Amino acid sequence: MKLIGPFKQIITLADLPLRGKISDEQIDIITDGGILVDNGLIKKVGNFKMLKTENPGTETEIIEGEQIALPGFVDSHTHICFGGNRANDFAMRNAGKTYLEIAESGGGIWSSVQHTRNASEEELLKTLVERISFLISLGITTVEIKSGYGLDAANELKMLRIIKKAQGQTKVRLVPTCLSAHLKPRDFDGSNQEYLEYILTDILPKVKEEGLAQRVDIFIEKSAFQPDESRDFLVKTKELGFDITVHADQFTPGSSRIAVEVGAKSADHLEATIDEDIEFLAQSDTVATALPGASLGLGEKFTPARKLLDAGAIVAIASDWNPGSAPMGNLITQASILATFEKLTTAEVLAGITFRAAHALGLEDIGKLETGKKADFVTFKTDNFQNVLYNQGSLNAENVYISGNLSH
Ligand code: NIG
Ligand code: FE
Repeated sequence: MKLIGPFKQIITLADLPLRGKISDEQIDIITDGGILVDNGLIKKVGNFKMLKTENPGTETEIIEGEQIALPGFVDSHTHICFGGNRANDFAMRNAGKTYLEIAESGGGIWSSVQHTRNASEEELLKTLVERISFLISLGITTVEIKSGYGLDAANELKMLRIIKKAQGQTKVRLVPTCLSAHLKPRDFDGSNQEYLEYILTDILPKVKEEGLAQRVDIFIEKSAFQPDESRDFLVKTKELGFDITVHADQFTPGSSRIAVEVGAKSADHLEATIDEDIEFLAQSDTVATALPGASLGLGEKFTPARKLLDAGAIVAIASDWNPGSAPMGNLITQASILATFEKLTTAEVLAGITFRAAHALGLEDIGKLETGKKADFVTFKTDNFQNVLYNQGSLNAENVYISGNLSH
């Protein structure tokens, strides 16, 4: 057992609700707090001195100077396993071309597929681990990572195996997702439907056999997969025992409805979601995930997070870090900016990058600092937790603890 503290403030987020709006008055602040850790789990959070008195002789890890502690952040949507770079796409978009025009002319996702297929496993693993190191430096302790730049059995499995290998090199919890349905690859000889069938017969059984991922994603969009074929695919995927998440309503509305209908864990993007579908999402258990990094990367509008929260949806915020639409990767900067444009409370943003994002991944053992949860937390050198979002990502995390161990 180990006692860590004292912290000027500990923000546990323990009593905050899973869905809907949250006011900042609902945030419980423990001043001069300590975190008691047993076997990697939180035994108790409370006043440091009291915890010390209650647990005489317990090893104490003293925190020097004024620091605050928050639950470790969760990035529930990334594509950080990739080769190459798409700086030219970024430049072309800013010079007037649209994301879809660039995709149709051979740039976009397909160019990342070629770079990823051509990259060696060593190179992909090395850059993936570097990106994870950047994420942990922000205070992120759990990160979802998608395949989707391989787009044939050999290369999708190669990506997922690399993600599995990366788990051996980091304490950050990695949650792999199979996104073979990102796009029908140009070299696939057949229809969209046939490609989706190929995923079901030639990729997912192997993913299952090797334990490479428990989640499946699809990009439903005019340029990718159409609503009806996607619905069929998702139903069959579910029958195979996978959890589902969907790239929904990024440019065209309608697909968040499919996500809800098939019982997806989350519907992500939602920049184009119409009011009626906001209501539909809000009535469901599907987490609505805003990806402000994609809005910033593409110069598109933000996900209507305010409306979603007011309607009662479970709103998470993730980075979507990828080489094309969201090259920044700084979830804290992005969530802070989303807050200023969408008028989100500090409580709503913190919930969105912790326990609500964890819920999207089906993980209930992280995201709040309370008894029994994994002792994943991040500290900042400041006397007030509001400074974290106020600095829009430029206040660096001081220490990151994973399972109670200093990991950054
Ligand atoms: O989430 N929208 C589809 N997929 C990614 C983009 C991936 C890419 O452009 O490489 C996204 O924005
Ligand atoms: Fe994405």
